[in-house]
Amino acid sequence: MGEATLSVTFTPSGRRGRVPAGSTALEAGRMLGVDIDSVCGGRGLCGRCQITLGSQPGLPAEPGRLSPPGDLETSYRGRRPLPEGSRLSCAARLLADAVIDVPPRSQVRQQVVRKRPETANFNLNPVARLYYVEVEEPSMIRQASDLTRLREALRAQWDLPDLETDPAVLQNLQEALRAGKWTATVSVHYGRLITGVWPGFHDRALGAAFDVGSTTVAGHLCDLSTGEILASEGIMNPQIRFGEDLMSRISYVMMNEDGAARLTETITAALDELVGVLTAAAGAERADVLEITLVGNPIMHHLVLGIDPRRLGEAPFALATDRAVNDRAERAGIAVHPGARLYALPCVAGHVGADAAGAVLSEAPHRSPTTQLLVDVGTNAEIVLGDRERLLAASSPTGPAFEGAEISSGQRASPGAIERVRVDRETLEPRFKVIDVDPWSDEEGFADAVRSTGVTGICGSGIIEAVAELALAGAVSADGRILEREHPRLGKEGRTPFYLLYDGPARIAVTQTDVRAVQLAKAALYAGIRLLMDRLGVEQVDDIRLAGAFGSHIDPLYAMALGMIPDCDPARVKAAGNAAGTGAIMTLLSADARREIEETAARMEKVETAVEPRFQEHFVQAMAIPHRTAPYPHLSRALDISGIPAAAADRPQRRRARRPAPEEKVAAAAGAGTGGAL
Ligand code: FES
Repeated sequence: MGEATLSVTFTPSGRRGRVPAGSTALEAGRMLGVDIDSVCGGRGLCGRCQITLGSQPGLPAEPGRLSPPGDLETSYRGRRPLPEGSRLSCAARLLADAVIDVPPRSQVRQQVVRKRPETANFNLNPVARLYYVEVEEPSMIRQASDLTRLREALRAQWDLPDLETDPAVLQNLQEALRAGKWTATVSVHYGRLITGVWPGFHDRALGAAFDVGSTTVAGHLCDLSTGEILASEGIMNPQIRFGEDLMSRISYVMMNEDGAARLTETITAALDELVGVLTAAAGAERADVLEITLVGNPIMHHLVLGIDPRRLGEAPFALATDRAVNDRAERAGIAVHPGARLYALPCVAGHVGADAAGAVLSEAPHRSPTTQLLVDVGTNAEIVLGDRERLLAASSPTGPAFEGAEISSGQRASPGAIERVRVDRETLEPRFKVIDVDPWSDEEGFADAVRSTGVTGICGSGIIEAVAELALAGAVSADGRILEREHPRLGKEGRTPFYLLYDGPARIAVTQTDVRAVQLAKAALYAGIRLLMDRLGVEQVDDIRLAGAFGSHIDPLYAMALGMIPDCDPARVKAAGNAAGTGAIMTLLSADARREIEETAARMEKVETAVEPRFQEHFVQAMAIPHRTAPYPHLSRALDISGIPAAAADRPQRRRARRPAPEEKVAAAAGAGTGGAL
């Protein structure tokens, strides 16, 4: 008589087969290649292996198909509660044919479902994993070292042969094994390297993802086993005291022998502080953090890694490396677990950073069957265009106008800033919305609501809407002239025409100089995009993603009305939020995501706008609002653009593109929002 077998089907994988009667559901899963999660190796400690009894026609979910809960389950008090109907698969034995349902939280490579439906989901598959082992005690008979016996246990109990060991582990290995009475939990990195040992059973593995912008630094603390974001915080980048923007920080490095070291110290101290804030917010310990991932523009990326960034400040803007960097977190001066690793996503080019790589990973143009344009607007716009066949990247020197700088009443997007503007087509009377204030300026309650902040200036999205609306209302011509005519809102200061937007305690006007600054910035952006379209051989883009804090504020229709971006179905223009930070989180939670972005970044084609002869030509054409020649059929259907007064025929031709000065090429996108929502 052969061994009695039973038929078992696992859902949702659909794997089925016959297994020996009396096998645990965990054993059956392993026999049939179903990955059920486990840290404790079936000892009833971790609670990660939970399953429920499923059903299919002819196989109802009758409790008798599994052994009744025994001591292991009734006494189970692990961190993961065992809800009614759930069983520990390492304890429940198969007594009859059965359907076993493995819920997402018990799957080894469970899918992380993104909140934004237009973005791809990914597998939870962190590079740092925990394994509980029972280790043979030392004896006079067999004098193998503690490490040897630990490695033997990992091979025998977890099929992890030939592991390397981080030397830092040796410092507490002996105490940990003895404190755990010859049981321990081990963290293994990439299935190859032992990076930590805890006495007994330990089930807390966290990671921190950082998006280091030149103005702000955003951090997210995640549970590596569930993918849950436990805390998100943002702080100002303290390097600001060495210079407001990247150009001045590079100058600081060039003029001071220890400049790079001081900037590195400053930013790594900030990351260390942020780890403290994040772990405190989540009620966790710094030592629970086993992984750190990092995105940032090339200069921030190099500085965090202790690389002198001065070569990024001069042509030909060579990166130290365009590969992903794996290092010890400790070497970056961040106090977390001594075996913790730091992973920096690859930079793409000297002015297209790891932040762009993170945004690509998040928005996935490299998987798209249609042509996707991904734009992250800062003082330099990072532009990626392509589809699953081919992907191109470039940066364009937009300057700081889109961040509210170089604008007469400009300010950052903070309370008090005008963020939305509408101008009446007949009367030219404005109405506007101020950040964090609900009523519009012409609505009841506005005066009270705005009292605490006042109306202090206009931010990037506000100035874009203001210029576009003025053009649509006929007060600004297609070549960007504020028309001079008798109107209480129109005037001249010296020889400079202006439009008065707000006349309160602060006087906020859109001046001719402001309009020119916006035109220069938007023309540079459009010209960079158009170069990539030429290179890709397309006349239109199917999808547009606007990344970064700015992308979240801007109304796509106005970005199009101004001619910042090419024509596109407005329903297919989306704000991508903090896409770079999301990319950092994805690489924290998924080894697959790391592989994906490394392969994608390596095959991205870099286009250097500074040496492209057609940049100037595109730039001149793009100075017009929305554009001198490019058609905008979708925009025309959504907004009446016929009211924009025609350009004086010769004016745009006289304008020159802002060619990127060498130091400007270093000004990679600055914004690092604190959104972090996947
Ligand atoms: Fe850990 Fe079942 S495998 S409780």
